[in-house]
Amino acid sequence: MVVILLGPPGVGKGTQAVLLAESMGWAHVSTGDLLRAARREGTQLGQEAQAYMDRGELVPDSLILAMVKEHLASLPQEQGVLLDGFPRTVPQAEALAQMLPEVDREVDRVVLFLAPDEVLVKRISGRRSCPNCGAVYNVYFNPPQMEGRCDRCGDVELAHRADDAEGTVRRRLEVYRELTEPLIRYYEGMETPMSRIDADRDVDLIQRELRSAFA
Ligand code: AP5
Repeated sequence: MVVILLGPPGVGKGTQAVLLAESMGWAHVSTGDLLRAARREGTQLGQEAQAYMDRGELVPDSLILAMVKEHLASLPQEQGVLLDGFPRTVPQAEALAQMLPEVDREVDRVVLFLAPDEVLVKRISGRRSCPNCGAVYNVYFNPPQMEGRCDRCGDVELAHRADDAEGTVRRRLEVYRELTEPLIRYYEGMETPMSRIDADRDVDLIQRELRSAFA
């Protein structure tokens, strides 16, 4: 099972992916998380990706594809995969279509998350995440129990992502419309089953709807 989570920045892909992966026993493959981990570890990939991410631009396909290919090959064949933030361009989707048969997989479904821009901007401005475990919070909608501290890791101070600054968020939305939204047509053309999710609702409600799609 390979499921692609598609949607603009801040729509809740990561939040839903963590919950769904946990309940289904699937692997959550977030290219954003993989890149941020590479940055923290100071790898060459992390260093090369940094400037693109900080500007709200996409990291070049060649870097992303090598990273995803390696990661997919490391997963057990029988484990379902949730792709979060990948593919993000039509060339990435085409490369994925070539890559999956090599690991005996195919794309089973696309889940498209939709919410108005003003909701996305508010969610992103309130987002805080744990640099240690990656848990995501929101100062408006999902605050941690102790202000500024991760519920899971206790003493670890939550961080505001550098690319969540207002100007960068605007650029990320433009990039989404220009380069990622065409994937909707691409997967419609491939007749891949697609679930459209109204993501401007409560986290639990969305999660229930998602789980019922895979029951
Ligand atoms: P990435 O990390 O993938 O960022 P994104 O796609 O912009 O998505 P976000 O992480 O911003 O949002 P999300 O939809 O996951 O929302 P979340 O659940 O966190 O990519 C970052 C950068 O890496 C890119 O700009 C690019 O440079 C590079 N990159 C990554 N993949 C790439 C690729 N394939 N190719 C090239 N470059 C790539 O939720 C947001 C906030 O809202 C949180 O605070 C959350 O608590 C809150 N929230 C979530 N759901 C709800 C709800 N229902 N109600 C209220 N609040 C909610």
